[in-house]
Amino acid sequence: MQIRETSADDLPAVMRLQEAAFGQAEEAELTRAILADPTAAPTLSLLAQDDGKVLGHVLFSRVRLTGPASDCAAAILAPLAVLPEAQGRGVGGRLIEAGLARLRERGVALVFVLGDPAFYNRFGFQAAGRQGLAAPYPIPEEHAEAWRVQALNGVVLGRLRGSVICGDSLMRPELWRE
Ligand SMILES: CC(C)(COP(=O)(O)OP(=O)(O)OC[C@H]1O[C@@H](n2cnc3c(N)ncnc32)[C@H](O)[C@@H]1OP(=O)(O)O)[C@@H](O)C(=O)NCCC(=O)NCCS
Repeated sequence: MQIRETSADDLPAVMRLQEAAFGQAEEAELTRAILADPTAAPTLSLLAQDDGKVLGHVLFSRVRLTGPASDCAAAILAPLAVLPEAQGRGVGGRLIEAGLARLRERGVALVFVLGDPAFYNRFGFQAAGRQGLAAPYPIPEEHAEAWRVQALNGVVLGRLRGSVICGDSLMRPELWRE
């Protein structure tokens, strides 16, 4: 399996993959919107493929923090998708780890994600709210633990505080309600 950065030519295949993984078009459209959103740049868009077949995709985009830490380089992971028949074979994990390695090289200090803690904990993500790092919109109480963060490049969690502001394409309140 190879992991590589996508080009504009990969977008149709990436969108087909997102639709197959999520069973709906919303995440595919979101991916297209994020990639075209100057306020979400720089993005990191990684594709996993085997013998030319697209198996998975992950997208990271830039976010900012409000307050004193506003110059902190930060990113958010969304969305992540693996082809249904390729799930459970480590493709998602490999994409996350490859993305984190590249973000580390780029000097990114914080990486956020809204997702299942049981899945993301194994890659080093912790509860972000408890670290004083708020999501762009309040997360419903029952899903509060899904808002997670990971510090890279020697950054210590607990010292940086603020609320996250994503690129415009991710700042739609309905994306944060589930
Ligand atoms: C979530 C997803 C990206 C995981 O990719 P994957 O390649 O199947 O994941 P991996 O093979 O690297 O890891 C599999 C492990 O994660 C667990 N896992 C997978 N999805 C999970 C979820 N939503 N919640 C909790 N654990 C999950 C599996 O049970 C498995 O655990 P095990 O190793 O203990 O058996 C993939 O299942 C997918 O595309 N799902 C549909 C889209 C989606 O829900 N994306 C959510 C992104 S926030």
